[in-house]
Amino acid sequence: MTFTHRHLLGIEHLRPEEIVTLLDRAEDYVDLNRAAEKHGDALAGLTQINMFFENSTRTQASFELAGKRLGADVMNMAMQASSITKGETLIDTAMTLNAMHPDLLVVRHPHSGAVDLLAQKVNCAVLNAGDGRHEHPTQALLDALTIRRAKGRLHRLSIAICGDIAHSRVARSNIILLGKMENRIRLIGPPTLMPSGISEFGVEVFDDMARGLEDVDVVMMLRLQRERMDGGFIPSEREYYHRFGLDADKLAHAKPDAIVMHPGPMNRGVEIDGTLADDINRSVIQDQVEMGVAVRMAAMDLLARNLRDVRGAA
Ligand code: NCD
Repeated sequence: MTFTHRHLLGIEHLRPEEIVTLLDRAEDYVDLNRAAEKHGDALAGLTQINMFFENSTRTQASFELAGKRLGADVMNMAMQASSITKGETLIDTAMTLNAMHPDLLVVRHPHSGAVDLLAQKVNCAVLNAGDGRHEHPTQALLDALTIRRAKGRLHRLSIAICGDIAHSRVARSNIILLGKMENRIRLIGPPTLMPSGISEFGVEVFDDMARGLEDVDVVMMLRLQRERMDGGFIPSEREYYHRFGLDADKLAHAKPDAIVMHPGPMNRGVEIDGTLADDINRSVIQDQVEMGVAVRMAAMDLLARNLRDVRGAA
């Protein structure tokens, strides 16, 4: 067994062989999810609680379905209606839930580091579903699975990540994962949306789409994360689209078989042309959603095995 973690908090903690183990397990679940009967029992008898302190459509639905398909009892906490709004701290809420003996806690939080902090206080497995601009490990893993299936490999590819890098936990987790798997990573975006110190990550940085996309295998677009911006990072959406929005003309600089990705939710006509996003010959955006369920099943399956091993040994 090459996956021995108690929690899934970030890609930063995973070794390349652990990433491969998780993706291989997810492949089995892709098949299960395409079958008429979608029931596994890897999480039978276990309780999964989803705590989303930020809005989410696909990630929350994906974790919920993943848990249900593997037989867990799944509860979604409505955090807007929770005691957090009455002043209770994150840790108090977590301790309260912990006393109800959950086995898997799936947490999304607007503050970087909040999920790690919570994981130190509870005795179940914690999965990070996105913390601030820090990490979003299951997104990077589902992106990796999508790339591996489309390109037949997950190494020695040239991959462009484009747009609002500075505010994106998706970009951060992907840069770490794709770097560990020995790919060439290019970041393309306006200098105002590049994080400081980015050169330490071993990436090439461009502020011009035509040059940055030259001969890449994968084009990963990002949403403009206005909720994390506190000022004028871009001149106007129109100007942004003109320079950085992906359309067929800009994509023509990439390899002829380059794939187009976006984690969603997407702003059509801001980051990406709507027709291109829907073009099933180029866009793998729907595959990303499909792979998301399988990857989350695999992640919870592996963590549950470790949980049972630890409890069995105690
Ligand atoms: C991403 C997120 O929440 O970080 N969305 C997602 O999980 N599918 C990206 C985004 O919100 O732009």
